[in-house]
Amino acid sequence: MRIIRTVSELKNEIEILKEEGLVGLVPTMGALHVGHISLVESCRAENDTCVASIFVNPTQFNDKKDLENYPRTEERDCALLEAAGCDIVFIPSAEEMYPMSDTRQFTFGGLEDVMEGPSRPGHFNGVAQIVSKLFYSVNPDKAYFGEKDFQQLAIIRKMTLDLDLPIEIIGCPIKRAENGLALSSRNNLLSESDISKAPHIYRVLMDSLTKVGELSVKEMESWVISEIEKCIDMKVEYYTISNSTTLKAAESLNEDGGVQGCITVKIGGIRLIDNIKYS
Ligand code: PAF
Repeated sequence: MRIIRTVSELKNEIEILKEEGLVGLVPTMGALHVGHISLVESCRAENDTCVASIFVNPTQFNDKKDLENYPRTEERDCALLEAAGCDIVFIPSAEEMYPMSDTRQFTFGGLEDVMEGPSRPGHFNGVAQIVSKLFYSVNPDKAYFGEKDFQQLAIIRKMTLDLDLPIEIIGCPIKRAENGLALSSRNNLLSESDISKAPHIYRVLMDSLTKVGELSVKEMESWVISEIEKCIDMKVEYYTISNSTTLKAAESLNEDGGVQGCITVKIGGIRLIDNIKYS
């Protein structure tokens, strides 16, 4: 596995590899876990060259402390990527990705105004800035993202269409610990006591599936919130049941385009996100 740190070297290398076959990209911010590795495995299986990137992107953090505290584990990440069959890992510096400040402003037809949007102003603009730069640098045939960040995936699909980029965006299923907790780099920041409580989120989401047919959308949202907050250390920021494609409020738990419930829960100062499919 080659480690590349500059855009120019990356572009030169990829130009040759593109002639030989398909190139897949797995963008990450490092602190890799089994969820990321499953993206790399899909990328490995479906392309001739598998490229991963590790970059803790400053423009998508609206909280400076969150950026400083974000786990950085480059050596371990590279070992995991190599073992998973990754061919190239791109690890640029902030200066390399942003030689000048990126002043581009993206909009996503309202996808950015719901769920994570209101509490993280500028976050999705920052995601679009870095993902578009990675797309321009790698020019992949396919790019892989986890479905855990459900809203991010919808936004990246929209951005790719809007920019007319010939890249297939592939969403990969959430990976969970045995107790159901969605794997996330942020889980590393939880105290031992909070990590033992966190699987409660998925348990409630799963239980909610047994209420389909009995509760309306609004009743289901309220039920999930009140069940999760029975754990006194948990505060639900939102539980939104929406159309999986448009992210507009769902009118029923079973409508065209699919229905997804997306949640953010705060525990011990850490925001955990998860989601579940109703139809
Ligand atoms: O999901 C992430 O880890 C990041 O938002 C991404 C897509 C790598 C962009 O920095």
